[in-house]
Amino acid sequence: MQDLHQLLIERRSIRKYTDRPLNPDDVKTIIEAGLLSPTGKNARAWHFIAVEDPEMLERLSRCKSSGALPVGRCKLAVVVAVDVTESQTWIEDASIAAAYMMLQARELGIGSCWIEVNGRLDESGTPAEDVVSELLGMPEQIQPLCILTFGYPDEERQPQNVEKLRWENVHIGKFQ
Ligand SMILES: Cc1cc2nc3c(=O)[nH]c(=O)nc-3n(C[C@H](O)[C@H](O)[C@H](O)COP(=O)(O)O)c2cc1C
Repeated sequence: MQDLHQLLIERRSIRKYTDRPLNPDDVKTIIEAGLLSPTGKNARAWHFIAVEDPEMLERLSRCKSSGALPVGRCKLAVVVAVDVTESQTWIEDASIAAAYMMLQARELGIGSCWIEVNGRLDESGTPAEDVVSELLGMPEQIQPLCILTFGYPDEERQPQNVEKLRWENVHIGKFQ
């Protein structure tokens, strides 16, 4: 198991993936990380829709006009959504679950990328949320926040440069 801080330094968005299939146990571990994430009032109202079918992945990659290409290339996409009738903090809940899953993937040597859905539009101006919901048959109250892509990395990314972290954005005692 990798040291958490080192994992945080080394995690980078991975947008190109090899053909190597994901191990079902690893997929389960990634989803379990999402289910382990904290939620406001412990609502746990997230829904994770795992998609592996290449044709559906290709369709999902067109849910917005740009920035979603990795969805069409990945081995697994997980749509992170929340029942907004059950959570007052749906964006936060979905975001934390997404971050947990991405970090778990990294720990397993699997690359990932966050693809924003909320508030984006497809080529024809249709909200990306509507495109994703329609494709996956999601009920209206289940709001997708993002699509996470997963696969073994087919690109080299450098770890974060800890010398360049924005320590100037950190304020001690009061804003200054
Ligand atoms: C809220 C959010 C939305 C993002 N949306 C996209 C996206 O739609 N497409 C994409 O390729 N990357 C997306 N990213 C990935 C960011 O571009 C990436 O995290 C950022 O450039 C920092 O790079 P790193 O993850 O390699 O450290 C998103 C990340 C976050 C946190």
